[in-house]
Amino acid sequence: MSTPAELRAALVDRLTGDGVLADPAWRAAAAAVPREAFVPEYFLTVPASAPTAYAPVLHGDPGRLEGIYRDQTLVTQLDGHLSPSDVQGAAVGAPSSSSTLPSLVLEMWQQLGAEAGHRVLEIGTGTGYSTALGAHRLGEHNVVSVEVDPGIGARAAEAIKAAGYSPTLVIGDGLAGYADGGPYDRLIATCSIRYLPLPWLHQVRPGGKILATFTGWSFAFGLALLTVTGPGCASGRFLPGHVNFMVARPHDRPPRQPITLLSGDARPSEIDPTILSDWTGKWVAQLAAPSAEIIGAGEQQILVDSATGSHARTAPNSDGGWTVTQRGPLRLWDQVEAAIQAWRQHGAPHQQGFGITIDGDGQRVWIGTEDGPTWNLPI
Ligand SMILES: C[S@@+](CC[C@H](N)C(=O)[O-])C[C@H]1O[C@@H](n2cnc3c(N)ncnc32)[C@H](O)[C@@H]1O
Repeated sequence: MSTPAELRAALVDRLTGDGVLADPAWRAAAAAVPREAFVPEYFLTVPASAPTAYAPVLHGDPGRLEGIYRDQTLVTQLDGHLSPSDVQGAAVGAPSSSSTLPSLVLEMWQQLGAEAGHRVLEIGTGTGYSTALGAHRLGEHNVVSVEVDPGIGARAAEAIKAAGYSPTLVIGDGLAGYADGGPYDRLIATCSIRYLPLPWLHQVRPGGKILATFTGWSFAFGLALLTVTGPGCASGRFLPGHVNFMVARPHDRPPRQPITLLSGDARPSEIDPTILSDWTGKWVAQLAAPSAEIIGAGEQQILVDSATGSHARTAPNSDGGWTVTQRGPLRLWDQVEAAIQAWRQHGAPHQQGFGITIDGDGQRVWIGTEDGPTWNLPI
């Protein structure tokens, strides 16, 4: 049986071979930080379960260490309170804390352009694994990490201390940042946000960078790197890849109301509704209808806006094409259809073809350039 050190060295070799650890300083951090100290127990998804079920992996279980040193995300909490040791057999729930897969953590630290000596604010300490990597590479006195869940934060603090690091750890809502530790050169969020919290823009110095994943109530995602251009202002581009993170707790969608699909105004849909199952198609639809939740699948999409009771639903016609039925003050499908058409007219790029501008007029996501098709984020 391999030791943790051997498994860690093998993971570092694999990530280096994959090009994730081109920077020797980050390679040294990955080689030094023992992931097993941060994720002693975890959940793994039960293959082919629907709804997704999670099976606990506990101390003494076969394959526990090998799982820790696989490049995979390890869920450590469900529904805001369930730990692996609370569960017998498998459990169904929503992941609320995890240790993100090492390749993504390390890639994001590098995308952030964080250098030794930079002051960095991390939002979402989670297990503390990414915090410890940052502390190793950047100097522990330069790293501040905020976690909203006191129990998760306390466990992370123990693990970080035991691993020999002492960054500043804060329990609180990371959306408020942590002004006492600033100004920061870099801010990295490992939970996703609906819009950029204004405190971040005032705590990161002009010229500093913010790396964060934008999401919405339909759970489409785009990872963006922004440069702070002045107090309260920033601009940036979305990055390649398919990154998703659990939503920052205050930005999560409201509990779903029971859905009653009433009759409404029907017309032919000008777009194939299956585009909402596409990674970027869903992102565009979410930008176009930010207060709605997209549910349904394939040709039978349903959009529901709980605040106004507006909804839209699509269905295939027996002779080809689709019918959309809309009801309520918001014509959700009209919004989505226009956005998808505009996106296609601009070549239907992946999120990396999008950018974001934040200034006194709000937060805008656009395609191509600032004068391309633009949507306001719901701040
Ligand atoms: C994906 S996990 C973090 C992964 C972590 N960086 C690691 O590598 O172990 C996201 C974390 O963000 C935390 N979180 C959610 N909302 C937050 C908020 N508003 N402020 C701070 N932390 C938050 C969650 O409790 C969870 O622990």
